[in-house]
Amino acid sequence: MKKTKKDISRELGLQAASICGKYFLKLDHLHYGYWTRDLEIDIANLHIAQNEYAKFVISHTPDGVKTILDVGCGTGQIAKNLLDMGYQVDCVCPCPFLKERTSELLGNESHIFECSYENLQTVNQYDMVLFCESFQYIDMEQALSNTDKFLNSGGYLLICDLFRKETLDKTFMGGGHSLTRFYDLIAKSSFRLIENVDITEQTAPNMDLLDDVMERVVRPVIDGGVCFLENRNPIILKLLRWKYRRKINKAHKKYLEGRKTGENFKKYKSYQLFLYKKDSQE
Ligand SMILES: C[S@@+](CC[C@H](N)C(=O)[O-])C[C@H]1O[C@@H](n2cnc3c(N)ncnc32)[C@H](O)[C@@H]1O
Repeated sequence: MKKTKKDISRELGLQAASICGKYFLKLDHLHYGYWTRDLEIDIANLHIAQNEYAKFVISHTPDGVKTILDVGCGTGQIAKNLLDMGYQVDCVCPCPFLKERTSELLGNESHIFECSYENLQTVNQYDMVLFCESFQYIDMEQALSNTDKFLNSGGYLLICDLFRKETLDKTFMGGGHSLTRFYDLIAKSSFRLIENVDITEQTAPNMDLLDDVMERVVRPVIDGGVCFLENRNPIILKLLRWKYRRKINKAHKKYLEGRKTGENFKKYKSYQLFLYKKDSQE
């Protein structure tokens, strides 16, 4: 299946996040941080919060699991942690840049399927399929039917990701599948719930940090650029403002109106860890 415009811009966004995150903040992961009570909410601590998140997810791997398929492995860091713990791990990665980064990290220890999960074709079967903040990007029906196919009998499905709550307000916060629809689909599947932990409270601070970066870094940089152009070339600035007016308005509404806060995250999103077991009779 050909990549859509949305897939490509999402890939570029994740690629930019991984390059900037590594360079400026020494981040190894591409997921939210898990903010424990004792950890000061500061961007300089994001790498610690991300490591806490990885530890939290990995600690929910059930006993007996030996082989894992890490779907949407990002930079490959969680797969690396799992390999170091003795698990056998394969990865799915649709983004060439992230695949390269994962290959450098994992060497020959893991097979990396360079495709979307929807397009994955393999006869391999695993004891656990892991979606670490990647479930939201994948068609839910296909994610569940493929997982059913790629799991050994009695295998596990582990999802840690954000979902959209059903609220009457029109949300300005994108991302996440509908939680209600997820419950409907999973209820009709062959998966039985083993564990569910709500980590919305521990992940919401990431939004406050993002809001802070937007307000204290991005906005002044944009204002500086606009001021420069206003003095140097006001006609070009007018033209740019007119040509990209819709995109500018959209980006402004989305990022610069101070609404992407932890409080709003808790109102509109739900960040959940779900562990399911495939029914062995299926
Ligand atoms: C937010 S990152 C999370 C990465 C990693 N799991 C982590 O926890 O750091 C989302 C990941 O999902 C992957 N992804 C996006 N769409 C996908 C798809 N259709 N199939 C498989 N992976 C996908 C991206 O390439 C990216 O690696």
